[in-house]
Amino acid sequence: MSSKLKKYLQDPFLNRLYRDIRKAGALKSISVDITHVCNIRCEGCYFFAEEMDRNKAPKEESEFDSFIEQEKARGTNFITVVGGEPSLMLNRVKKLYDDFWILVVTNGIRKIPYEGFENMPITVSVWGDHETDIKLRGGGKVDVFARGLKNYRDDPRARWYYTTTPGNAHEIESVVEQCIENGNYVWFNFYGDLSHVGNDLDHHQGFGRVRREIDKMIERYPDKILLSSYVCQVVSTGMLLGEQWGYDVCCSVSSDNPVNAGRINNGHPYNPHFRAYNPDLKSTRRCCVGEDRDCSTCFDVWAHFSWIMLSMKRHMASKEDFTNWLTTMYIFYLINQIIDFETGVELLPEIHSRSMGLRERKPVPIGEMMVQ
Ligand SMILES: C[S@@+](CC[C@H](N)C(=O)[O-])C[C@H]1O[C@@H](n2cnc3c(N)ncnc32)[C@H](O)[C@@H]1O
Ligand code: SF4
Ligand code: SF4
Repeated sequence: MSSKLKKYLQDPFLNRLYRDIRKAGALKSISVDITHVCNIRCEGCYFFAEEMDRNKAPKEESEFDSFIEQEKARGTNFITVVGGEPSLMLNRVKKLYDDFWILVVTNGIRKIPYEGFENMPITVSVWGDHETDIKLRGGGKVDVFARGLKNYRDDPRARWYYTTTPGNAHEIESVVEQCIENGNYVWFNFYGDLSHVGNDLDHHQGFGRVRREIDKMIERYPDKILLSSYVCQVVSTGMLLGEQWGYDVCCSVSSDNPVNAGRINNGHPYNPHFRAYNPDLKSTRRCCVGEDRDCSTCFDVWAHFSWIMLSMKRHMASKEDFTNWLTTMYIFYLINQIIDFETGVELLPEIHSRSMGLRERKPVPIGEMMVQ
């Protein structure tokens, strides 16, 4: 252990977080599109934008079972299950759940039952308050957000994955309130305007207002928000300690795919185990959210998490940077229940108070300063 690490870990809180993560162990992760089918068509969904549904999921169960054996043999221990819509393929989700740590990403329309999935982390997508969500995801008719709220009321497995859009920052407070009143946790994602809809969805206007609203939510609900101000800062500014986000530094690229040979050999950290499997479970694509996608459209929080997590060395210069790295790791392990969720969430308020990002520290009242 380096002397700097030793020094930072003299702080009992950081020591606790670090020990929990070490005890849980290293992750060998992949992402799997479990099906090419979806029951809705969201505006500018990256999966359909690049016609990734042309790679069909195998019809034979035996092919799926062989895939599981292949990944077990490779040492995979964590899978992000996406698609298409995973709730339409529950028998296969169950098989993954029985063998790996998984996080299932769902649009929330079809409830994933408790039976067989008792303790499985489920992240339910929402794109805005009811009117916006109906417009962007419900084809102007279906209130997808309302369905998700109903299906996951007081469900301890559910965490909302709120894809924010730059022109709808004013909706964040109301959406978060509804999710929390529903008995759930919340974290965030940032919309990439792949189909050039423009206006409120146009990422070129930046996510500054969104970030400030998220920071307000962290202040208000520090025990319910599963994303730190630091991660929001990195995603919304595209900067990590002076390094610019983009393909050259992105760590969510399939290491086996020849298209990434140049990236993998360019000297920046990458995840040698990671593969983003298409629904056919045979081919991999360039990265978790694209095949040929322009990386300047990518504000994917999952991919940014990996960037931060694989950049430990660059976070060692100061205790503040190390804290930002460690809290990012911890929250990732927490969302995915790699560490015990019940005990881990109790640490959230302290995590938020230490991982400040661009969020302003509240001035300490003069009276309190004198007492200290
Ligand atoms: C492709 S979906 C698959 C899982 C599931 N059907 C769902 O919607 O949750 C995976 C995640 O990507 C998000 N997503 C899709 N298109 C996006 C885009 N253009 N920008 C940002 N997030 C996007 C969705 O909101 C969802 O949370
Ligand atoms: S529900 Fe998911 S997969 Fe289906 S269109 Fe929306 S974002 Fe894409
Ligand atoms: S689209 Fe995003 S995740 Fe994919 S390679 Fe580009 S930066 Fe990485």
